[in-house]
Amino acid sequence: MSALALHGVSVRYGRDAWVLRDVDVEVVAGRRLALIGANGAGKTTLLRTLSGSLRPTAGEVLVDETPLSFKRTALTAHRRAVQLVLQDPDDQLFSADVHAEISYGPTNLGLDPDAVRARVAETAELLGITELLTRPVHHLSYGQRKRVALAGAVAMQPRFLLLDEPTAGLDPAGCAALLACLKRLEGAGTTVVLSTHDMALVWEWADTVTLLDAGRAVSDDAGNLLGDADLLRHAQLDRPWQADLLDAAGLPVSAADRPRSRADVLAAALHR
Ligand SMILES: Nc1ncnc2c1ncn2[C@@H]1O[C@H](COP(=O)(O)OP(=O)(O)O)[C@@H](O)[C@H]1O
Ligand SMILES: [Mg+2]
Repeated sequence: MSALALHGVSVRYGRDAWVLRDVDVEVVAGRRLALIGANGAGKTTLLRTLSGSLRPTAGEVLVDETPLSFKRTALTAHRRAVQLVLQDPDDQLFSADVHAEISYGPTNLGLDPDAVRARVAETAELLGITELLTRPVHHLSYGQRKRVALAGAVAMQPRFLLLDEPTAGLDPAGCAALLACLKRLEGAGTTVVLSTHDMALVWEWADTVTLLDAGRAVSDDAGNLLGDADLLRHAQLDRPWQADLLDAAGLPVSAADRPRSRADVLAAALHR
């Protein structure tokens, strides 16, 4: 019952080595998917493939079990439903001011000006950037630009929101605000996929994890995958501190109902 999937996907850029090799990934509606892998493992490539902005060299992108045709009409619909937010906001932002940036997508959807204004106001409110709406984009801080880039995608009310390293470069308060915002979007029916190097975040946030290593993808329930020290070491990743601590306390790491928040992990380990 996956809603968005890659089936047998391989990707190479020109004649370079294969970045993804025969990869299967399933994004199940309502389940949080975290994508992990060392630098250059292919996280961005995989997200771009899911979003329809990169056509795989081989294999299929499936939406509700139907292969994406990559014809113009199908692609337009796909890119509306599946919004990708790039890691670097400066690769995404192109408008002079914040209001123009967020209204660009909804305007292209053909909404009337009042509906666009309402959509922009609602999105800005959700992301806590209402006071930035009249500001020039180039006057904003990095964290603010990141939020505006996210707002541009959120304003499209996508079924799937793909975030490439959304917390990279954010301070702890910025990360917490982002997670709170994602929770609200999930409440409204959006399914979120994110890539990250922050293993503690993956532990806390993800339901399912896809690990990329040497072109191959391994997916599992987050507790199972994050408990597998050998798998993570091979992929040049650290095991999250939460898994190490539970292990040291003699508690199961891979339980489906693993403690997730910092407080719950500490309480479980200290009061067992
Ligand atoms: N547009 C591109 N042209 C050529 N090579 C690319 C391009 N984008 C990515 N690559 C290469 O593909 C590999 C995977 O990159 P990427 O998907 O960005 O990995 P990650 O996001 O995990 O760091 C890297 O070796 C990178 O150099
Ligand atoms: Mg990347």
